[in-house]
Formats: sequence, C-alpha cells, structure tokens
Amino acid sequence: MRRKDLLGLQDLSKEEINRILDVAARFRSVSERRIKKVPPLRGRTVVTAFFEDSTRTRLSFELAAKRLSADTLNFSAKGSSTAKGETLMDTARNIDAMRPDAIIIRHAAAGAPHMLARAFPCAVINAGDGINEHPTQGLLDLLTMRDHLGDLQGRTVAIVGDVYHSRVARSNLFGLRALGARVRVAGPGTMCPPGLSELGAEVCHGIDEVVEEADVIMMLRIQRERMGPAMMSSSREYSRFYGLDLERLKRARPEVLVMHPGPINRGVEMSPDVADSTRSVILEQVTNGLAVRMALLYLLLGGEEAPDAAS
Ligand code: CP
Repeated sequence: MRRKDLLGLQDLSKEEINRILDVAARFRSVSERRIKKVPPLRGRTVVTAFFEDSTRTRLSFELAAKRLSADTLNFSAKGSSTAKGETLMDTARNIDAMRPDAIIIRHAAAGAPHMLARAFPCAVINAGDGINEHPTQGLLDLLTMRDHLGDLQGRTVAIVGDVYHSRVARSNLFGLRALGARVRVAGPGTMCPPGLSELGAEVCHGIDEVVEEADVIMMLRIQRERMGPAMMSSSREYSRFYGLDLERLKRARPEVLVMHPGPINRGVEMSPDVADSTRSVILEQVTNGLAVRMALLYLLLGGEEAPDAAS
C-alpha cells in the first residue's frame, strides 16, 4: 500500500478499498486457528492513543497488532498526563520519541489524526476524529456488506439516525459511493447536515421511505455526548419516529441486512428483538473489524504481497 497513513475513506479509490477488503478476508482465518498469531509485524511497535472512550475499536486494534506479533502500547487519556494539562501535540511528541511504527488515534477534535500524520514519520491511523471520519469502521462495514451481497455496485444502503454527528455515516458514504452503491439517508431535520446531496447521498426524512427499498439498513447511534438539548425532544419520541422495531422491519425486504456500529442504545435506535434478530449482522461487523485492522496494519507497515494469512 503506497500510503503512510489512513486518515479517511474520502480519498480512497475503489481499487484501494477492495485491496484492503481482500487482504482482510484472508486474515480472518488467523482468528479461527488454535494458535491465533502470525509473524509479519514481529519487532514492530503499535501505539493505540485513545482520547475518547471506545470498546470495539480499541480492543480490536490492540488484538490485531498482537495477532500480527507486533508489540503494543496502549495510551488512554483517562489516567494519563492529559489530565494534568498536557497538549495533544506534546503527548504525541513523547509517544513519537519512543519510535513507534504506528500510532492509532481517536480524538474528539476533527483533524487531530491529520495533524499527527503531518508531524511524525510513523504511520497514523484514524480511529475516529470528532464528527469527521471513522475509516476502519467504514471498511469493516463494507466487508460485512460485501460478504452478504457480493459486489456493492447498484445496491441500496439506508443510513438512519443522527447523521449530523456520525463519523461512521461519513466514512460509509465515501466508501459506498466509491464502490458504486446508492446511499439513502434518513433522520430528523436537526440531525441531517447540509451538503449530504453534494457528497452523493439521497436525503429523505422518513425512515419508512428508506426501509422498503434497502438491501442494508444501517442504524446510527444517538450521540448524546455531542448534542445539545435542542436536537432531540425525548428518546421515546425519537424511537417512535426513527427507531427500527419489528413492525418497521416487516416492511423491508426479507433478506435485508440490519447493521449498527455499536454501542447500541437498545430501545432507542432499535428494539432489542431487531438487534438480536436473524437479520442483524452486528456481531459479524465486530469480527470483521479485527480482520480489517489486521489488514491495515499489515499493509501500512510494509506488507505488500498477498498474505496467504501471512503464514
Ligand atoms: N463502533 C465503534 O467505534 O465502537 P467503539 O466506540 O466501542 O470503539
């Protein structure tokens, strides 16, 4: 891969996306073995630097690096010198001084990974920057859709909910458009930012409008930590107008895929019976997240040949 960093899906070509997904698909087998470790990143050091909370992304990046035999260092803003007032750039300079090969960063400020990528020689991977992008989530979502649907050209993906605050929605939109999919977005007016049409999405305001034609329904998390009180009157009202329950799901195609990036607010974005239904591929998304992150670390840190699961 001829990139130093992965900062977003906005500038990735169809070929680059498919290359990452192909390598990820091959790495899945490593996690099915009794000894779940392969050697290609032996002697390399990967740092996860999380300035925002995470379960899936942080754990799967750490596990991906370990399965490829890299050494891992985990920085979490809570309990670090960030609490004493150290700036992001000073923290990053100190991490860089330990000569890592890759820094994986999640930060509330859009553009934080881009700043690090310009300043330091190691690979920088964006694990979510504010409301901008979450490219590895986009890639794992694309892999999950591709597993079930094959080529995504001409497929219809409905993205529903708090689009305004969703870096997941933005990365998916860029990736899906690059692969030729039709993207239909629905959410309350306060949660649909301007400019979505210019990015290639069809903007609809009712969930029922998008559910019926969709091959995939991607429900987004309500991001309470990023919104003021004016954006949503109550969870109950949101759920009534924009939540996915079994009644709404009955109107969808019988083979529709239901996705959610997690963590789910059960009973708000979707009812528990939908989250746990046979249409839900939410835990497959998590499994694919590990494979996608293995593929990215492998490709960014020098692996070029088709890995054959890197022996
Ligand atoms: N989907 C996602 O980014 O989950 P975490 O916040 O748990 O990493």
